[in-house]
Amino acid sequence: MEPATISPLVGNETVSDELRDRISSLRERIGARLVILGHHYQRDEVIDFADMRGDSLDLSLHAATLKDVEYVIFSGVHFMAETADIVTPPGVTVLLPDLRAGCSMADMADIDEVEECWDVLTSATDDTIVPITYINSTAALKAFCGRHGGAVCTSSNARKVVEWAFSRGKKLLFFPDQHLGRNTCADMGIALDDMVVYDPHADDGGNDRETYARVPVVLWKGHCSVHQNFMPNHPDAMRLRFPGIKVLVHPECRHEVVKKADLVGSTKFIVQTVENAAPGSKWAIGTEHHLVNRLNLEHPEQTVMSLSPFACQCSTMFRISPEALADCLQSIVDGEPRHVIRVDDETRKWSMVALERMMEMR
Ligand code: 13P
Ligand code: SF4
Repeated sequence: MEPATISPLVGNETVSDELRDRISSLRERIGARLVILGHHYQRDEVIDFADMRGDSLDLSLHAATLKDVEYVIFSGVHFMAETADIVTPPGVTVLLPDLRAGCSMADMADIDEVEECWDVLTSATDDTIVPITYINSTAALKAFCGRHGGAVCTSSNARKVVEWAFSRGKKLLFFPDQHLGRNTCADMGIALDDMVVYDPHADDGGNDRETYARVPVVLWKGHCSVHQNFMPNHPDAMRLRFPGIKVLVHPECRHEVVKKADLVGSTKFIVQTVENAAPGSKWAIGTEHHLVNRLNLEHPEQTVMSLSPFACQCSTMFRISPEALADCLQSIVDGEPRHVIRVDDETRKWSMVALERMMEMR
């Protein structure tokens, strides 16, 4: 199949001047009591209003340093707003402009399934197992890791966190993204045969106990439905069509895609790589297409396009609309903040243990 030169601009809408003015004036009325954080996958018409934009690690680190702030609006998805609530002081109220902005990957592991997996693994081996959750997970899973000597990682520091896990135990349980877990462990030199996938919908996760006793790495059967769309034939097709092009992908892509990439890293790494590249550089990027399109527009001196011929859009990130942002701001002005994200005290305490480890290993 022929790759498109650039994936279509699905979803970016023009915002009326009236709506823009409304957002700006509400923002101004609230002033320094509010910080708006925006993830790189947000649409332009939303990210334009962010006080800081970043990847998951930088946004969490920034949230953890906020002082003298009453409100944080998170233009991102639910697990990001939950994380911000956990790491900010108790007096800070965190809002998510649209509560339907979840993450399909985070939904692929719930706490009951993880507890069941833990029972299966701990009954199969006496080895110490260290649980690591990707930040794209519910607070309950982060708390599980805090309680069981584990940590949270992001796509920026996954390798450091996994190395840390192996300094504490012989086995790793990594959830919910099998691809990030596999890519990180393979990068460290662990053989694919030494990794097994635990399927929460199969009896005992789909493997026998001898297998769990043997392998050092157990990967949860979860994935990102956006990054899963990049296929191993895409790098080949792009290189054939655009000689000299470099393939730059997010580690949530399948291992077969990552193996063919020139460079792999978080959204921050992707942004910095393009920003620091020489004029005339050519990039085929395997990540959410709002970020790819933005890099394309911001770097006319380079050629920046999606690795896939199809638009890979995160439909939940897209739920944060300028209208939802305006309503969220209005609710603060009215003194009745809407769509507040609040993690209960017990979950907060234990997830903070796992998040502090993540923030130390940057
Ligand atoms: P980053 O931490 O690289 O920003 O990734 C977050 C994410 O959800 C990617 O799908
Ligand atoms: Fe979740 Fe994938 Fe969207 Fe990232 S791109 S928020 S992992 S669904």
